[in-house]
Amino acid sequence: MKPRKVTKAVFPVAGLGTRFLPATKSIPKEIMTLVDRPLIQYAIDEARAAGIKEFIFVTSRGKSALEDYFDHAPELESELRRKNKTDLLEVLKDTNMDSGAIAYVRQNRPLGLGHAVWCARRLIGDEPFAVLLPDDVIAAEKPCLQQMVEAYDRTGGCMVAAMEVPPPKASAYGVLDIAEDHGNIVRARGMVEKPKAEDAPSNLAVIGRYILSPKVLTNLNRLKQGAGGEIQLTDAIAEEAEPDGEGVYGFRFRGLRYDCGSKAGFLQATVAFGLSRPDLRDEFGTYLHEMMAQQKAAQ
Ligand code: UTP
Repeated sequence: MKPRKVTKAVFPVAGLGTRFLPATKSIPKEIMTLVDRPLIQYAIDEARAAGIKEFIFVTSRGKSALEDYFDHAPELESELRRKNKTDLLEVLKDTNMDSGAIAYVRQNRPLGLGHAVWCARRLIGDEPFAVLLPDDVIAAEKPCLQQMVEAYDRTGGCMVAAMEVPPPKASAYGVLDIAEDHGNIVRARGMVEKPKAEDAPSNLAVIGRYILSPKVLTNLNRLKQGAGGEIQLTDAIAEEAEPDGEGVYGFRFRGLRYDCGSKAGFLQATVAFGLSRPDLRDEFGTYLHEMMAQQKAAQ
């Protein structure tokens, strides 16, 4: 039997974003801008391309800029219309959401990613759903979540986006314990959150795209009752890799992932996305070349 279609996506955006302080004191991390689009726009575009129709944001205090971003801006729009700026009106279209397509739930305390997803349980109901972490930005010919939805159609269960990392770096991620490797899809027998380098079961790391069975919400319910500190999404997914679970699959996506939750990753993404833009490529590329040459000469 084919799995149900995935039409809902959760965007956990309730984190404190401490790595970007002081900027994130008053600006949500997800509003920070790669070239001219906030991080959240990249995630929404990716979800739309994958067929997502309902967008669920898990927010917290101080994130109202996110809600405003996806609302209409009648004054701005009528001013642009008056000035006949149709190209800019077109640009704004991507930021508008149909009424009722977007929902916000609050996470009152930052108790971790698992808890953030759990906060959305009533809006998700009893169907598979996607989770996208907007600070993982993925450049890909076919958007990553779309690749995953197509693969999920064959596997069902739970699917996580996975990428090979150098072994010493594996301890910064959730890592898959591989039972069967079928190339772009692997079946996992377990998943460990931030293992010590010597304990990592593989170098296949999980990044911020997931398609999850509603059973994960039930697992989170149980973990929530037991956990003292952060409630890990990894643990709730790993339960489905047990023999009586629905199965956990890693998906080796085609594309480049940028960790925009870290300063170095954000800067790398800015350069890559700047260079990929036809309107900026020449000027920005020339500047980078000159800068590199100057640095070399100075050494
Ligand atoms: P991070 O681990 O990047 O944490 O969360 P953070 O708070 O955003 O940033 P730093 O580490 O303090 O700089 C990964 C994702 O999970 C969400 C974040 O908003 C981000 O999208 N998250 C994390 C929540 O929604 N709630 C939480 O309690 C924790």
